[in-house]
Amino acid sequence: MFRRTLINLVVVLAMVLAMVGVVSAAPQAQAETTYTIKLGDTLWALAEKYLGSGTAWPAIMASTNQKNIEDATFAYIRNADLIHPGWKLLIPSAETAKAFMAAYSPTKPELLFGKRAKGQLVVASWWTAGGEAEGLTGLFNIYGSKYPDVQIVNATVAGGAGFVFRPVLKTRLIAGDPPDTFQLHAGLEVEGYDPETYLEPMDDIFASEGLEKVFPADLLTLLEYKGHYWGVPVNIHRSNVLWYDKSIFADAGLTPPTTWDEFWAVADALKAKGVVPFVMGTSGGWEAPHVFEDVLAGTCGAEKYSGLWTGAVQWTDGCVAQALENFKRMLTYVNTDHPALSWDGAGHYLVGKKGAMMIMGDWANGWFEAQGYTGYGWAPSPGSKGIFVALSDSFSLPKKAPNRDNAIAWVKVCGSKEGQEAFNPRKGSICARTDCDPKLFNEYLQSAMADWASDAIVPSPVHGAAAIESWVTDFKDAIVLFVTSGDVAGTQAMLQQACVEAGTCK
Ligand code: GAL
Repeated sequence: MFRRTLINLVVVLAMVLAMVGVVSAAPQAQAETTYTIKLGDTLWALAEKYLGSGTAWPAIMASTNQKNIEDATFAYIRNADLIHPGWKLLIPSAETAKAFMAAYSPTKPELLFGKRAKGQLVVASWWTAGGEAEGLTGLFNIYGSKYPDVQIVNATVAGGAGFVFRPVLKTRLIAGDPPDTFQLHAGLEVEGYDPETYLEPMDDIFASEGLEKVFPADLLTLLEYKGHYWGVPVNIHRSNVLWYDKSIFADAGLTPPTTWDEFWAVADALKAKGVVPFVMGTSGGWEAPHVFEDVLAGTCGAEKYSGLWTGAVQWTDGCVAQALENFKRMLTYVNTDHPALSWDGAGHYLVGKKGAMMIMGDWANGWFEAQGYTGYGWAPSPGSKGIFVALSDSFSLPKKAPNRDNAIAWVKVCGSKEGQEAFNPRKGSICARTDCDPKLFNEYLQSAMADWASDAIVPSPVHGAAAIESWVTDFKDAIVLFVTSGDVAGTQAMLQQACVEAGTCK
């Protein structure tokens, strides 16, 4: 008897709980609602209140952004965390929100941004840092002024050098659900995307835009894979730049080191002054390998360095051991918090005059400028004077691009003089084209243009130019391990093995 009462009680309790659950989960507004943001509102809280669950906030963002295209009194929400009192929102009906959420995924940000009369242009890249973002906006502005009826969607996946971006993008390509265009390094990186299956060759665009006449021959060679062009390049970046804070050097009576011996002497002098001599941020797993590719070039010289990537030189060569020794010694001068910092995070050491030198690609120049930091100087990384470790960013055309015409118009803007002149001075890169106006570029970039024209050009592995992706991954893994192990012989063996596995070494 007692047991039955207990069971009844439990059943009743469960029913009451279920009802409460149903009531609290039930949306209070079934119909579409216009809402004006009040102080303290968040999209999450509004979604909870009107749609029954905070997780449905993307539905509010999407319907508001779509409405904004027809009626500009509604807000345009770029970032869900940045909404302001007074903004007008369109909260969809619970039913519409449910249908939207069934299709939504964070890897498809384009669903949040509405469509204009001529659809969208979904541009996927990893350009989120200062300088990178400004450069991209420069390109968007030109595209937007030419094609006002296209909604541009900036589909970024943060993380320098694209190591977070690439797996996300690959999944979309394989699923047959790509963005309209995506950032692709010129060179062997394209192999990792199986271009013959997933990308459109761009030879016709190169022909119609006369691009073979405006890009240097070396770059065209780098861009060609299996007899086709798969991306239109927007820039040339240099990997092997030593950035330094001019005032720290002036105060210590130092000049930037050009050789390894000078580097050790300068680093010791800086250490004695209580300044971190050499800064790195290695949180992304690609930054230490980036520094090492430049150490390799600055130790082996241009010819041997290039040979390492073509198989003409084996990784068992003595210069590789010497490069590892140099890198190991370099690491004795580095900031201890480097594993917690990104490349731009490490840049703050220079800006704050707490760190003196950093080796990073010349996107650091765009970042410095975006920070309003002008006290930086530059030199080739130790031993690499006369060598330009090069890479280039291009934009591709996936076969299943949902807005193909818009994407074709985009890559044409990317290849144009107007596009490159708007993009590169802010990005901190030089034009891929040979006819940009040097006067638009700052002093560093003008010096990079001169070096690009006269130096030995060698390819960067970490930024997709020199090697196929699986090799880059092995190279990267070996160097990341080396940062903590310091095992020169073991690492050299791993590097040789990586080259063998890539099919390049014997
Ligand atoms: C590189 C890319 C550059 C720059 C850098 C840091 O791979 O080519 O454009 O943005 O990553 O994110």
